[in-house]
Amino acid sequence: MQTRKATAVSCANVAFVKYWGNHDAKLRMPLNDSLSMNLDALTTTTTVEFDDALEQDEIVIGGEPANEKAKARVVEQLDRIRKEAKVAAKARVHSRNNFPSAAGLASSASAFAALTLAGTRAVGLDLGERSLSILARQGSGSAARSIPAGFTEWLAATNVTSTSEQSYARQLLPPDAWDLRDVIALVSADAKKIGSTEGHALAHTSPFLSERISRLPIRYHRVRRELLAKNLHDMGPDLEAEAIELHMIAMTSRPPIFYWAPGTVRVMDAVRQWRSEGLEAYYTLDAGPNVHIIVQAKDAAEVEKRVRELGEVQQVLVSGPGGGAQESEQHLF
Ligand code: PMV
Repeated sequence: MQTRKATAVSCANVAFVKYWGNHDAKLRMPLNDSLSMNLDALTTTTTVEFDDALEQDEIVIGGEPANEKAKARVVEQLDRIRKEAKVAAKARVHSRNNFPSAAGLASSASAFAALTLAGTRAVGLDLGERSLSILARQGSGSAARSIPAGFTEWLAATNVTSTSEQSYARQLLPPDAWDLRDVIALVSADAKKIGSTEGHALAHTSPFLSERISRLPIRYHRVRRELLAKNLHDMGPDLEAEAIELHMIAMTSRPPIFYWAPGTVRVMDAVRQWRSEGLEAYYTLDAGPNVHIIVQAKDAAEVEKRVRELGEVQQVLVSGPGGGAQESEQHLF
């Protein structure tokens, strides 16, 4: 085949209704619908080139050869792309985050969304948004939501007759529809001890998972409605409940997973305090200790200032709503 190089840029996302647990782990088909906002300040750029002359895939992340675990996961995604395109050539992949990779922020969503778009374009496929989302999902579930722009929802497709093609993310609102900010308080840069793939599997050992899943549709529709109405005041309490519930499932899994650090609780307390003083801010968490504080743009500077004053906070990032995965001419090699 003729070699062709393609580069894609994709945003991370923060979920308002969380994905925690699969009904089909191999295909990464989730137990529930989820909903998120892309983050324009947190992006991954990935360049992919397929080349018949290569004997094996060459994966470089952040300027360094990828470790075995990361490499295996990228190669699996390349295999899905090769299968779709019916090619055998190995690929050169260089990937870089624009946010500190040691900061303990989940980057698999932006990473697999960018890899999927760059990889399919490099191999000569021109997939639509839905097909890209389905393919990205199989690399990392939350990556499905980083393909469309703005505020997106990922349909779980949990009926017994559902197929993989029915579980994809689509846009709910474009990025400029709602001027929200995510003020991210980094309280620990330690690498996660238990990754989310393992966490999704362990979720099934929590006695509370079935209770969560059975109650979730009501919350989901409420959050979705408030999102479309751009009503942070009514959406906020559910954002916090979602974060607590995800961690409750993790903490009651066997073995239990504790992602929180002392600073996590400190920031959550502070947000509640600020709210009682009239500052409209709500926290949420991913599978890690860092706290995402969701606010309207007009309050972002004040919240950022207050977060910086908290002793446990090492670094603060502020992001608005981001676009979808996009091709770029700025190749990394
Ligand atoms: O995409 P994964 O397998 O890394 O799962 C991430 C799940 C959470 O970030 C914890 C929640 C979510 O919905 O994004």
